[in-house]
Amino acid sequence: MWLLWWWNDVWYGLVTSTLRSSKGDDTALPPGYMGLPIIGEMFTFLWYFKFLRRPDDYINSKRHKYGDGIGMFKTHLFGRPSVIVFSPTATKFVFRDEESFILEWPNVEVVGKTSLVAVHGKTHARLRSFVTRSINQPEALRTIANIVQPRMISALDSWTKRRTITSYKVIKKVTFENIGLFFASFKPGPTLDMLGEHFVGLLSGIRSYPLNIPGFAYYHGLQCREKTVAIFREELEKRRNKFENKSNECMNDLMDGLMKLEDEEGTRLSDIEILDNIVSILVAGYESTTLATMWAVYYLAKFPKEENMSLKSIKNEQFVTSDEILKMKYTMKVVDETIRMANIAPIVFRTTTKDVTYKGYTIPKGWNVMLWIRYLHTDPDNFNDPLSFNPDRWDAPMVPGAYQVFGGGMRTCAGNMLARLQLAIFLYHLSTGYKWKLVNPDAKVKYLSHPKPEDGAEITIQKL
Ligand code: HEM
Repeated sequence: MWLLWWWNDVWYGLVTSTLRSSKGDDTALPPGYMGLPIIGEMFTFLWYFKFLRRPDDYINSKRHKYGDGIGMFKTHLFGRPSVIVFSPTATKFVFRDEESFILEWPNVEVVGKTSLVAVHGKTHARLRSFVTRSINQPEALRTIANIVQPRMISALDSWTKRRTITSYKVIKKVTFENIGLFFASFKPGPTLDMLGEHFVGLLSGIRSYPLNIPGFAYYHGLQCREKTVAIFREELEKRRNKFENKSNECMNDLMDGLMKLEDEEGTRLSDIEILDNIVSILVAGYESTTLATMWAVYYLAKFPKEENMSLKSIKNEQFVTSDEILKMKYTMKVVDETIRMANIAPIVFRTTTKDVTYKGYTIPKGWNVMLWIRYLHTDPDNFNDPLSFNPDRWDAPMVPGAYQVFGGGMRTCAGNMLARLQLAIFLYHLSTGYKWKLVNPDAKVKYLSHPKPEDGAEITIQKL
């Protein structure tokens, strides 16, 4: 029993580090407990996340046991020896060293081998410049702000006609309709419905065990990827034909941007690069935007404040521009506070490409490095009274490196400005035109795979 209990610690701490020390390398692993063979600490992880529903206490319990040390603990999770990184300084150290800590997406072929999340180094930097110019820079944001508002306004209006609505579901629908519009000018209809269906399969393919056999989620995911790509490819080819026929029609959407932009050498993206990146932006942007918007509805209902309910309009026109909204200070504070509390991306994963030494401890090559960014946002050392929704906290300077909702380094979220903009526009229309209430203010929150109230934030909503 003793050996079983300490198996991983003995194996990784004693056996493999003795091998390393025989080569003259540093050997001490960060403090922590690595759990049972194969299973590691998976049960403890599930205990805090699924049963206690206090995910941050997982880290608190470790801090209590081992102290703060170097801001890292060793453990064994998801079948791999791992290091949990929980302090702003240690997080910064990892984010900055893109070569030693690389991003390895599971089942990356489902998203696409030339997508932003699958490539590294110079290829990544080149693709990233295309993607950010198409979705995240001021000119693109201006266009997108115009595209998304009509759907948001009509959706809000339609919600008031129902007795109660599940925020998560209705926001997901409007988010997807807007994605259809600004990705490839798809209007709601059969193509978009089909895309939605294939996307569900594609997503579960990314999360599945890679068994390419009919009947398994991975196989289905690859099939769904092919179907998703086929829909976008058909549209791409239509546009190429128009282009060859010298039609100068400008669609002003993501596909158009990716087709027309050039890098410094005047080269454009290949068709497969365009398609893979549309898929990867869909994967990265759809659920995250839905959840962020749902949490804004939730928090503003749960922690109402005078100002919250009137993130006030400075103008009477129906639409707001991206330049105007990004200057609305209170609205942007609500946006940042919502994303901090929502912790949509609770953990960011990296793998070490070599043995890395940090403050006298070693993280061996091939280990899983888990940047526990949700803990940065809920640690009272970083944010005063962290679990209360307080947009005004953003008036004071924050602890450096403590706000990492969008990750960091070369892999910082490529849609961070777009996500903030969409959320701000939605809040603007919601709070200036409607009042709403949570049906179950005490609904429990589930934390896996992403934090969400169990009832999907059911609300009643009326026009002001
Ligand atoms: C509130 C909403 C969002 C949150 C909290 C969020 C969070 C993140 C985080 C933490 C990362 C870094 C992952 C890593 O380092 O491994 C990331 C990457 C990324 N995000 Fe977001 N994201 C959001 C919305 C969006 C949106 C709306 C888009 C695009 C439409 C988007 C596109 C991307 C892309 C393409 C990457 C990969 C960047 C790269 O590898 O260079 N995200 N996001």
